[in-house]
Amino acid sequence: MKALVLSGGKGTRLRPLTFTLAKQLIPVANKPILGYVLDQVREAGITETGVIIAAETGHHVKEYVRDGSGWGMRIEYILQEPLGLAHAVKQARPFLGDSPFVMCLGDNLQGKGISHLVRRFQDDRLDCLILLKEVPDPQRFGIAVLDSAGQVTRLLEKPKEPPTNLAVVGTYVFSPKVHQAVDRIRPSWRNELEITDAIQEMIGMGFRVAAEVLDSWWLDTGKKDDILTANQIVLDEYVKRDIRGTVEGSTVEGRVSICEGASIKGSRVRGPCVIGRGASVESSFIGPYTSIGDSATVVNSAVENSILMTGASVKDVERMEDSLLGKNARISKNGRSRVVRANVGDFSDIEV
Ligand code: DAU
Repeated sequence: MKALVLSGGKGTRLRPLTFTLAKQLIPVANKPILGYVLDQVREAGITETGVIIAAETGHHVKEYVRDGSGWGMRIEYILQEPLGLAHAVKQARPFLGDSPFVMCLGDNLQGKGISHLVRRFQDDRLDCLILLKEVPDPQRFGIAVLDSAGQVTRLLEKPKEPPTNLAVVGTYVFSPKVHQAVDRIRPSWRNELEITDAIQEMIGMGFRVAAEVLDSWWLDTGKKDDILTANQIVLDEYVKRDIRGTVEGSTVEGRVSICEGASIKGSRVRGPCVIGRGASVESSFIGPYTSIGDSATVVNSAVENSILMTGASVKDVERMEDSLLGKNARISKNGRSRVVRANVGDFSDIEV
């Protein structure tokens, strides 16, 4: 069993962050989503992984994943123009050979992991196993229709009027027969080779396609609010109380992880939250569901349900909530004046 992890694509919905960062590298609880996806691949015992990258952001992905030894796996990078998920499979064909494989979207994370899917795929001798999840906004996703026996009968990509609310989650297992289906499909209305069309083709060709409904959480980090939700869930699931930095004249309540070199002075920190290496918090309140990146600073402010990436800083801000600050972004209040002074990049979004 091999793995194919998709870390290409355009990331336009997450601008401005994705001007300088691949969307799969946006950190939740101070670690890129892609890192959690690779953890799950490794937990399933897979050691050979192809990582799809795009020309503009591929170097960032490579810098993070390197040769894969951090996850105990061998990595092969596959450059792809973002022409669809099935196009990525086509592009990866030389890497995949005749091996069955797990395909994971590098910006999707689900709470159940991959091992159980691989086991069922092998035990039931399937050609394709997909994971579904009931969602409130099915028009944003690939959608499946099941018959009364729970067999998949139809798949549709982002239909305007979805016939069900069962979204296709970004974790799939395929036998090499998928390549025959990919060779037969044509680009969709959005000019992409859709993996949903390839799976529909597999059903039509009489291959063994099965679906499982996910009974755990699923995160598709497509927009700012999705990332804040991902941050909440990951902080809830993975963060334990672990204090390595220095804490002076402060209270630290609940599950808070404070990394080496971080300093907390005259502040109150209420978990779950993480405070990165070399970060500094002074005379401030850090509320639940906040991730403070490495070397970020918060001075004389209150911050809650937010992500501050590496080197970001917040100063003299009475209250900041539900916010996402990119690397080295700075927010400060200019005394008592009502004047706003800004130096903000393209596609930024500020509410004052
Ligand atoms: O999130 C689940 C959904 O993912 C499924 O329900 C849909 O059926 C599936 O088509 C896909 O929909 P999206 O339109 O949201 O996919 P997106 O373009 O966001 O790409 C998903 C990931 O794959 C993302 O990490 C970028 C990467 N990608 C995407 C394309 C189109 C590639 O590596 N290459 C590509 O050509």
